[in-house]
Amino acid sequence: MKKIEAVIKPFKLDEVKDALQDIGVQGMTVLEAKGYGRQKGHSELYRGAEYVIDFLPKIKIEVVVADDLAPAVVETIQNAARTGKIGDGKIFITPLEDVIRIRTGETGAQAI
Ligand SMILES: Nc1ncnc2c1ncn2[C@@H]1O[C@H](COP(=O)(O)OP(=O)(O)OP(=O)(O)O)[C@@H](O)[C@H]1O
Ligand SMILES: [Mg+2]
Repeated sequence: MKKIEAVIKPFKLDEVKDALQDIGVQGMTVLEAKGYGRQKGHSELYRGAEYVIDFLPKIKIEVVVADDLAPAVVETIQNAARTGKIGDGKIFITPLEDVIRIRTGETGAQAI
């Protein structure tokens, strides 16, 4: 299994969510985040206003999938979240040891 975390522009959330649903992703977690990248938050526009602070509002999504679905998830997020401008975000991929579905006690890929 893989845990895929992506930091994206907030207005892209719906598009990313719909695209992931279309390829069969079963669940996801969404967090409101603040962050900065190489430009340190400067000279990036958010809703038309130039921020002079270091942290910009971002959305972080977390998706856990079986290994075979991971490349499609990454590609889907990249395509849906991309505007071509700075601040489009990043995708982080981590091997995931186990998942437990609390209600049933299932573990591993069965539990996703
Ligand atoms: N190295 C990092 N570690 C953790 N989070 C990061 C890292 N780089 C970027 N992020 C997160 O991703 C968000 C978007 O980063 P961003 O897309 O601006 O990266 P970048 O490297 O500056 O690329 P670009 O030049 O396209 O803007 C940041 O606000 C931050 O939340
Ligand atoms: Mg940047």
